[in-house]
Amino acid sequence: MPASDAPYVLSIANQKGGVGKTTLTVGLGESLSRLGYDVLVIDYDGQANLTGWVYGQKLEADDVNILDVLASDDWTLLNTADEAEGFGFDFIGSTEELFDLEVKLSNDNYRVFALRRAVSELKTKLAEGSQSASGRRYDFCLVDCPPALGLAVTQALNASDGVLVPTILEKMAIEGLKMLTDEIDQARMNGRADVELVGVVPTIVHVVRSQTQSIAGVLRERFGEAFLEEEQVPVRTKISEASAVSQSIREYCERQDSSEYEYFDALAQRVVCKTIGIQDSNAEPVPTSRDGFVV
Ligand SMILES: Nc1ncnc2c1ncn2[C@@H]1O[C@H](COP(=O)(O)OP(=O)(O)OP(=O)(O)O)[C@@H](O)[C@H]1O
Ligand SMILES: [Mg+2]
Repeated sequence: MPASDAPYVLSIANQKGGVGKTTLTVGLGESLSRLGYDVLVIDYDGQANLTGWVYGQKLEADDVNILDVLASDDWTLLNTADEAEGFGFDFIGSTEELFDLEVKLSNDNYRVFALRRAVSELKTKLAEGSQSASGRRYDFCLVDCPPALGLAVTQALNASDGVLVPTILEKMAIEGLKMLTDEIDQARMNGRADVELVGVVPTIVHVVRSQTQSIAGVLRERFGEAFLEEEQVPVRTKISEASAVSQSIREYCERQDSSEYEYFDALAQRVVCKTIGIQDSNAEPVPTSRDGFVV
């Protein structure tokens, strides 16, 4: 059974839009929960797609959300977290107000560390024995980042132990990856954070075609072991449909007699190995061969 004394904070980031960040965050969150880990998922994007998925609707302006945690002393990650029914994790939502982060935090001279402060407080509270309203003591905290390189992503990187980068296997998408890895390096070099690149995961991968193969080759060369080729998530209809009907990927797939959620189980096991370094011997076996693979 998992045991870590502090949650491992993992940002899911790529400034390119529509590469599967939010989908991967939900799938990974569900699978980590299924493996027995206590997971907190944070929507850190003003688009609030993840919030709409989890609640089936947007939050009202006066509903407590992640911005309250950043901007007010009354709200903490622990007392804001809400159980995401059917998903297996706790959740903190966002609203479009998050687009105005810069303005909302303009009086905070240390705003680049606003999320890190909240995370530090969470770690302290958990170490003191506190738990969330749902009884969770988080092993992982997943942060779904917006498709941009602005204050929100800087804050997320500064608060994170690691970053997972979903990418589609297209030339223009991988060209942009350099900007993100530079940002990660910068955070590290400036001593702002000790964040590690946990992996670059191919997502929404189409059946083998020569372009994806050559791009996979470039990523393999550039990222070595951090290129999580085996854990790639192919294009799968049920995965996409789950978000449209605001349901858990696992529950939706099971209802449709599909096992597409297993891609996220495989990814979750790899993420556990690469982060908190424990392999759960009770975990369900991971499928070893799947159609649609690049290799
Ligand atoms: N494995 C998959 N198979 C099929 N469709 C997928 C898959 N993963 C994601 N999608 C679909 O691709 C679209 C973009 O996915 P998603 O919203 O997760 O990307 P994103 O990177 O979070 O986008 P944004 O940058 O706007 O936040 C969605 O319609 C989603 O349902
Ligand atoms: Mg998204």
